[in-house]
Amino acid sequence: MTFPDPGLSPATDPARREPLRVALIAGDGIGPELVDSAARVLAAASQSVGEDVCFTEEPGGASTYEETGVAMPAEVLQRLRTCYDAVLKGPVGLPHVRHADGTEAGLLGGIMRTGLDAFANVRPMRLRPGVHTPVRHAPNDIDYVIVRENTEGLYLSRGLGVVTRDAVSDQLMLTRRGCARICRYAFELARQRHGAPGDGVRRVTCVDKSNVLRSYALFREVFDDVAEAYPDIDTDHRYADAAGHDLVANPSHFDVIVTENFLGDLLSDVGAATVGGLGMCPSGNIGDGVSYFEPTHGSAPGLAGQDRANPLSQILSAAMLLHHCGRDRGAQVIERAVTDALASGEMSLTPHQTPVGGTEQVTRTVLDRINQTGGNAA
Ligand code: IPM
Ligand code: MG
Repeated sequence: MTFPDPGLSPATDPARREPLRVALIAGDGIGPELVDSAARVLAAASQSVGEDVCFTEEPGGASTYEETGVAMPAEVLQRLRTCYDAVLKGPVGLPHVRHADGTEAGLLGGIMRTGLDAFANVRPMRLRPGVHTPVRHAPNDIDYVIVRENTEGLYLSRGLGVVTRDAVSDQLMLTRRGCARICRYAFELARQRHGAPGDGVRRVTCVDKSNVLRSYALFREVFDDVAEAYPDIDTDHRYADAAGHDLVANPSHFDVIVTENFLGDLLSDVGAATVGGLGMCPSGNIGDGVSYFEPTHGSAPGLAGQDRANPLSQILSAAMLLHHCGRDRGAQVIERAVTDALASGEMSLTPHQTPVGGTEQVTRTVLDRINQTGGNAA
């Protein structure tokens, strides 16, 4: 799989010799074991193609909130902006760490996505050979990317809604500028891909509820405007409820999907169920400055420290990070190792989508593959 990164300058010149500067945010629950696994894979893959990475741990999440009263201190966010080429972040949040209003206090979306203006939440969905899922689809029949707007929409209201004793409102706000830049991102991405698996057509699908809400009608209007500059890309529209249906019933139709923040959050979990679960789903939070990469799942505190969590979403997020930083060869090494180990049956998931053998065994399998084939896979 490739992770095209359209229209945004890579943080790093591919020709540079200095080590890639990566901040690691270990996160909560299963986060530390996943980030440890992915950092080892990232280092091994880079080394196999003669490139160096240098890691620095930075704090963030529910444990940081418990210690400091904020999920990420302002100086940490500032360091992320200025001192690193990219960030590899684990899942964050703990159920008992909450604000008085009931919302979780350890989450970082409102701080990092907004603070870094990482406006594109890029979520590739691919069913790999060897992965079994509750709904039967042929391997490689599912290969699309959800491009979720990351800085506005319903989640812009975090902590800002109108609250009285008996009523609470959260507003969904979309701006022309925000809609235009995410739609352009989606079309540029489609140009770099190979079209939908079903028919090979390069296509961007706009997902909204413009039949009900004016904010979504604006999203669709801007999408249609932006589409005019991309006559080479097919376009279509789905209401979000129908999109949920079609992601399960006819996923090979999709190539790139662009949608609002909240809808993208929901639909990316629907898609995840069709490709082996959230443990198979990496993501990038990408903007014009430093970008960060994380699994799309939560911190699963009930699984923490038991060596049971699937590290592949975190490992594949590391591959996206390398790609974003112009280090395609390292990214391909990781991709190939994961894909081949799953296809050969060396690595597999239980029906509950946890990895057979556990987190550490999966990590070692990927590392062994990288050490055997190394740069030859790139
Ligand atoms: C995601 C997650 C987060 C989100 C949660 C943990 C706040 O579900 O990245 O999809 O809603 O964005
Ligand atoms: Mg989510």
